[in-house]
Amino acid sequence: MERSEPAAYVESAIVSRRSVRAFLRQPVPREIVERILNVAARAPSGTNMQPWRVYVLTDGPKDRLSRAVLDAFESDEPGHTEYRYYPAQFFEPYLSRRRKVGFDLYGLLGIRRGEAARMKAQTARNFRFFDAPIGMIFTIDRRLEIGSWLDHGMFLQNVMVAARGWGLDTCPQAAFTPYQQVIRRELGLAPEEVVVCGMSLGYADPAAPENRLVTEREPASAFATFRGF
Ligand SMILES: Cc1cc2nc3c(=O)[nH]c(=O)nc-3n(C[C@H](O)[C@H](O)[C@H](O)COP(=O)(O)O)c2cc1C
Repeated sequence: MERSEPAAYVESAIVSRRSVRAFLRQPVPREIVERILNVAARAPSGTNMQPWRVYVLTDGPKDRLSRAVLDAFESDEPGHTEYRYYPAQFFEPYLSRRRKVGFDLYGLLGIRRGEAARMKAQTARNFRFFDAPIGMIFTIDRRLEIGSWLDHGMFLQNVMVAARGWGLDTCPQAAFTPYQQVIRRELGLAPEEVVVCGMSLGYADPAAPENRLVTEREPASAFATFRGF
């Protein structure tokens, strides 16, 4: 079986995507971000509804959003998410996988069990978009159904994979979702808009230990059922 050259590029873009949690301050030109978004918008969507919206922030607007969310986070007021990303109670096999990625990340950062202040500081880095020059907030119209959320996810993945073509890295961030009202106020979201997630975009800091995290995956043999072969 011969693999074509484009297939090799596609595989490498997909496989080289990983969540980066420390960025260089090197700016990313608006034209590149726009190009990535135009490519990402080739994502399929049921009846071509294209149910995505994104706010692309840099400099002052990014810093203002970060400050507002950090203030809310530091005030320890319970956030208010408008959709549940995670189940109320984790269960296997998801619980173990979730724990492993947390242990591995904290391990690289030298954060030990019970070091609550350091864990909190790491969570707070989400709200500074891990120092990336670009912070994005993705929204969807709350009147849409679960199918459109699937479409939105395909768009998100395209953004992250297309970014690889420019040597850029990303981190998708559900951490923003409990701060819907703060974000709504700061960005002037329409009432029907729900924050799906945030995303950092920029050039990875190669010296940062957290960027050495390589996550595992179950092989296809564990989740795929083949019949008729
Ligand atoms: C929608 C979504 C939200 C996520 N939210 C966060 C987040 O808030 N903070 C974070 O550090 N990582 C976040 N992640 C990254 C996951 O932890 C990561 O994708 C997973 O551990 C697999 O690692 P990889 O992306 O490096 O392959 C999120 C991923 C997705 C898809």
